[in-house]
Amino acid sequence: MSTNITWHQSNVSREEREKLLGQKGLTVWFTGLSASGKSTIASALEKQLLQMKISSYRLDGDNIRFGLNKDLGFGQKDREENIRRIAEVAKLFADSTTISLTSFISPYKSDREIARKLHEDSGIPFVEVYIDAPLEVVEQRDPKGLYKKAKAGEIKEFTGISAPYEAPSSPEIHIHTDKTTVEESVKILIEFLAKNNYITIVN
Ligand SMILES: Nc1ncnc2c1ncn2[C@@H]1O[C@H](COP(=O)(O)OP(=O)(O)O)[C@@H](O)[C@H]1O
Ligand SMILES: [Mg+2]
Repeated sequence: MSTNITWHQSNVSREEREKLLGQKGLTVWFTGLSASGKSTIASALEKQLLQMKISSYRLDGDNIRFGLNKDLGFGQKDREENIRRIAEVAKLFADSTTISLTSFISPYKSDREIARKLHEDSGIPFVEVYIDAPLEVVEQRDPKGLYKKAKAGEIKEFTGISAPYEAPSSPEIHIHTDKTTVEESVKILIEFLAKNNYITIVN
């Protein structure tokens, strides 16, 4: 635990920052099985937002493990710490008025609740998006060959095969990617953000 530290308040409040930059920060938290489509949809949404001149930045599973979280493994404690750090970083981006998009399996409800609370305690909106597809479908897609390896016992504690996935009970958005195209998913997300006044669509 760090001691002898004091929070240094900014000269600019979040409200002022948002006004000056003309946009709002928030975190869109994608959760779902591996290969459900989190990264694909988050990337497409990021591009769409940037084309609308809205700052957006993606924090993605493996990428974060190459850097910030390279000291963490896949055991229970490390998974928890992985999510906690991601939530903190997403919150920082959101506080700077960027739309953070996180795509991590984040299989445990309790971890996602920690991420949500961290945001809500700071008054930063948190949008949980459940990217849902049946196990048979994601096993069929298997773009990284991970399900094959998990089934062969080469990867231990793989979500959906040998570790649980706790589906969100009341996510802000629920998308079935076996029935919804990437473009349709992006449209659903943009419409949600606009409806909640997180973004403004200018024609
Ligand atoms: N409707 C869809 N939405 C998202 N991805 C889809 C869809 N249909 C097929 N896919 C494919 O499924 C795979 C999803 O992989 P990825 O986005 O990396 O998943 P995740 O990040 O959830 O592990 C990609 O190969 C993508 O092209
Ligand atoms: Mg991914």
